[in-house]
Amino acid sequence: MNRRAFLAGTTAALVFPRATLASPYILRAEPIIAQILPEGDGTTVMLGFNGSTPGPELRVRLGDELVVRFDNETDEGSSIHWHGIRLENAMDGVPELTQPLVPTGGGFDYRFRVPDAGTYWYHSHNRSWEQVAKGLYGPLIIEEHTPPHVDHDITVILDDWRVEEAGALKGGFGDMHDFAHAGRMGNYAKAIVSKATVKKGDRVRLRLINTATARVFPIKIEGLSALAVALDGMPLSAPRPLGDVTLAPAQRMDVIGDVTAAVDFLFMTRDGPYELGAITVDGENSTPITGPIAPLPAANVARPKDVPDQSLTLKMEGGAMGGRHAGDDIWAFNGVSGLSDTPWATFKSGDTAIIDLVNDTSFPHGIHLHGHHFYEVNTDGSLGDLRDTSLVNAGQSQKIKTVFDNPGKWLLHCHMLGHQASGMKTWVEVL
Ligand code: C2O
Ligand code: CU
Repeated sequence: MNRRAFLAGTTAALVFPRATLASPYILRAEPIIAQILPEGDGTTVMLGFNGSTPGPELRVRLGDELVVRFDNETDEGSSIHWHGIRLENAMDGVPELTQPLVPTGGGFDYRFRVPDAGTYWYHSHNRSWEQVAKGLYGPLIIEEHTPPHVDHDITVILDDWRVEEAGALKGGFGDMHDFAHAGRMGNYAKAIVSKATVKKGDRVRLRLINTATARVFPIKIEGLSALAVALDGMPLSAPRPLGDVTLAPAQRMDVIGDVTAAVDFLFMTRDGPYELGAITVDGENSTPITGPIAPLPAANVARPKDVPDQSLTLKMEGGAMGGRHAGDDIWAFNGVSGLSDTPWATFKSGDTAIIDLVNDTSFPHGIHLHGHHFYEVNTDGSLGDLRDTSLVNAGQSQKIKTVFDNPGKWLLHCHMLGHQASGMKTWVEVL
């Protein structure tokens, strides 16, 4: 990591545009020029939606239909995946599995009902290790019917980029050495926030989204007396002290708290904390919202049976400093690299399954299941947090338990996108 590049990024955070359109939305993927480096430094040729990266923040209300016309004006095929949304399979945006690839100049109409309130995001699902790294993603916010009472609802995107001194993205997106290790790490990182200034005493809701293709962010938030209220879009049954937070690629966290000073987003690296960005404070709120921070209304997710219908093991294998495996690429699940013709597992709709995610490699992996949320199972066997992406560190394992109740063909893959590209993916079918 280039210390100087990081330090150059301190002080004010970049602010991204809020969508001014209403559903139906149009998302146009296209080449753009972005100011990733600080104002005054070089610009970066990237990909974006409707002229910007991150793309516009899409907002709909719980239970509404989201209608998006996707137009692909980039020079390669693409698609949009609605990460974490428990939507109908045909709208999941996975080329070859749920829809045809959208060619250059082509389009696709996405239309689905959103069953859960919370913090989500959308991103390209074709050659994602490169298209997402180049900027093809954006936030998707599903509002509660009665949102919690706050002064500001602020989206905070954490990302990193690998850039040249003058701003251009470095090439080599498909670099095998990156793939076999932790993935393509950026040499420049920052928080992109939707609001630059708040007042002392304001109650804010922060929606953190890690959109990086490989980097796990250990984060500390200063200047806020706050509780975590949701993970991966799903409300926590009881708000929880923030403490030190780790967000793997694709993971989200909602925080509600009261501003005590400038809100600093610190990336806790081995060399010490780096400021990813800050929300500055201007003035004081004379009528602050008081009262406890209440839990968000629980999501309507099926409760798994105590005794699962199926118990499976998904073993992550390969990579540098890893053992041999039977697959034909760098990474594998249970000896198989990439998608096979038949699903790794088949479920009857309504089946409860427990899957032991076993990390038999030397790197962390963030395992994401499409179309469902799952419970992380605590070591005592009780149900832990509901998530759609689970971080499993090297040599560790994590059991997850889920009700497979959404019919269709669903990907299950590592969200370190270079790992996904080089074998760490499979699929399941729900009948
Ligand atoms: Cu966020 Cu299959 O991806
Ligand atoms: Cu991985």
